[in-house]
Amino acid sequence: LPVSSGSRMVSLVVNGASSADNLAPTAVSEQVKSVANEELFYPSDEFRASALISSREQYDNLYKRSVEDPDGFWADIASNFFWKTKWDDSNGKIHSENVDIRKGRINIEWFKGGKTNICYNAVDRHVEAGRGDDIAILWEGNEPGDEKTLTYKDLLGSICQLANYLRTLGVRKGDAVAIYMPMITDLPVAMLACSRIGAVHSVVFGGFSADALSQRITDCRAKVLLTTSGVCRGSKVIKLKEIVDEALSLCLAGGHTLESVLVFPNDSAIKRQDTPWIANRDIWWPDVVPDSIESPIEWVDAEDPLFLLYTSGSTGKPKGVLHTTGGYMVYTATTFKYAFDYRKGDVYWCTADCGWITGHSYVTYGPFLNGATVVVFEGVPTYPDASRCWEIVEKYKVNILYTAPTAIRALMRFGDQFVKPLARKSLRVLGSVGEPINPSAWSWYYEVVGDRHCPIVDTWWQTETGGFMITPLPGAWPLKPGSATLPFLGVQPAIVDEKGNELEGECSGYLCIKASWPGAFRTLYEAHERYETTYFSPFQGYYFSGDGCRRDKDGYYWLTGRVDDVINVSGHRIGTAEVESALVSHPLCTEAAVVGYEHEVKGQGIYAFVTLLEGVPFTDKLRKALILTVREQIGAFAAPDIIHWAPGLPKTRSGKIMRRILRKIASKQLDDLGDTSTLAEPAVIEQLIALTGK
Ligand code: WTA
Repeated sequence: LPVSSGSRMVSLVVNGASSADNLAPTAVSEQVKSVANEELFYPSDEFRASALISSREQYDNLYKRSVEDPDGFWADIASNFFWKTKWDDSNGKIHSENVDIRKGRINIEWFKGGKTNICYNAVDRHVEAGRGDDIAILWEGNEPGDEKTLTYKDLLGSICQLANYLRTLGVRKGDAVAIYMPMITDLPVAMLACSRIGAVHSVVFGGFSADALSQRITDCRAKVLLTTSGVCRGSKVIKLKEIVDEALSLCLAGGHTLESVLVFPNDSAIKRQDTPWIANRDIWWPDVVPDSIESPIEWVDAEDPLFLLYTSGSTGKPKGVLHTTGGYMVYTATTFKYAFDYRKGDVYWCTADCGWITGHSYVTYGPFLNGATVVVFEGVPTYPDASRCWEIVEKYKVNILYTAPTAIRALMRFGDQFVKPLARKSLRVLGSVGEPINPSAWSWYYEVVGDRHCPIVDTWWQTETGGFMITPLPGAWPLKPGSATLPFLGVQPAIVDEKGNELEGECSGYLCIKASWPGAFRTLYEAHERYETTYFSPFQGYYFSGDGCRRDKDGYYWLTGRVDDVINVSGHRIGTAEVESALVSHPLCTEAAVVGYEHEVKGQGIYAFVTLLEGVPFTDKLRKALILTVREQIGAFAAPDIIHWAPGLPKTRSGKIMRRILRKIASKQLDDLGDTSTLAEPAVIEQLIALTGK
């Protein structure tokens, strides 16, 4: 379904020939079915009585102001933060933007001219206000009983020490620092130490392979890498430093030399003496980081870059999403506060890893900017058994829990007996992110975990958006299971049809956003044109999210999944093109086509059709080798669940693979293949079906 976009034709799609098809991906079929009996879940009177935003009317008024006078609205909020120098509002505006590609270069700026520092606002400010003894991090290790508490004062001390050392390594404002670490307290410390000195962090999720890590380090030309010797995840030991060494030799081969590797020892995973070491480059973190706990702050412009985070797109290599300082700071703090109805003293736990955007905005920045107490968990929800999460909730008296549908589904399968014996009375708000939450997971989360008294905040947002875009404000309006409900303050969603016409009222279409919001990403690193083409060209005048969406009669938004070639596996975004290119790098694989299919736990699973060199038999050994190739090039989380041998792939006469048909085969909807009349060789379909499950 090509969408005309001025001079470019952007191929949007994916699910196939008709837009109706596009907007109903398989993963949310349960949801689509349940829409008929929409039930409303109201916040309790008790919840509302103390909620920050406690009625629809209050929201409506705030929302009206936020879109009619965004400058005034956000200036008021921003003035609650510390600015060394106030932003330039000489023309009465605090932001400038062009999000309409027809009018020229896309450009978004908020609070420009303002000088601030996000680390100062997230940490120093609380200590200076006498809250240094408040707990910042409750760390829970992989093994039960392994724990550590950091007050805001402790956090500040660790940040300053590392910040000073990074300076002695020559890291300066604007330099990129790569971080490849597990969920130990030093990971948020590392992020904040970078932002303290104006360095741009690029956190790479610890599950990425050496290839993927090297690609990300090289792309941003990081000078320094912060890592850990190894980590235990559940019963597995992962030797991160070995992966790092392999990644850095790949960088070297590609012409990029990284100067220093700062390694945090983790003796429980691997002993120091067993950790592979390269002299003159590798440094043991605790041996060198000085004791001094003072480190001057680098005041940066609101529009100076804060971090890069690579994310998958529908084509080509991963994109370096760039966020800047001021707008991101104001936006993550504000969304955190209102969507979770955060109150001082709350214990908050987000199960995401800092390697993803959720860990940036809602483990590190949003909560610390609010002075919250954050549980940081190193392990996995099912180790030593499926009661671990609820033990943590009981132990730390967690008030706000934020997790993903895939985790909920995984835990739900073990049964209620793992949840019920543990005290969950402390819980007040439950959050969900990463994919549409299906009704059965929603009900279990609501009924069993929350004992029917916690609103479920289903937050829709993206790496690109920096913070929540469509989300319940839990005291303000009733929930509908599976709907992210209404836009956050200042966010103007638009649903458009395939021609880019904005639809009104009840409708289904492509989810776009009109106008900018402070947390929006500003560019793709060194790829501004790709930024414009990917996000602003498909529907001119709007930011295009890549998601399909329905709006119901009450104005509630229902996300229906990606409409581009991105699949969502356990809440991780994976570009099908990346998996395909890994598969075809195997010498025996000549062609690959990857699609998503409905998966009970992961939401979507990865289904790969592969064509082999003529005469090569498809054996179990080869299947494993193909999967291993993907694990090595991307990471274990991107490994295909199913490999389907395809002697030929269904193509149009112009040679384009018809993924719509492959998607149907993957989801076993064989009697509903749709229009196959444009196929170059109709016989390949029979052949493929015959090989299903082989
Ligand atoms: C999907 C994660 C439905 C969506 C924060 C989006 C969701 C992609 C939800 C972004 C939700 C995230 N309901 N879908 N509540 N949250 N998504 O960049 O397809 O890793 O485009 O950011 O996840 O994934 P990303």
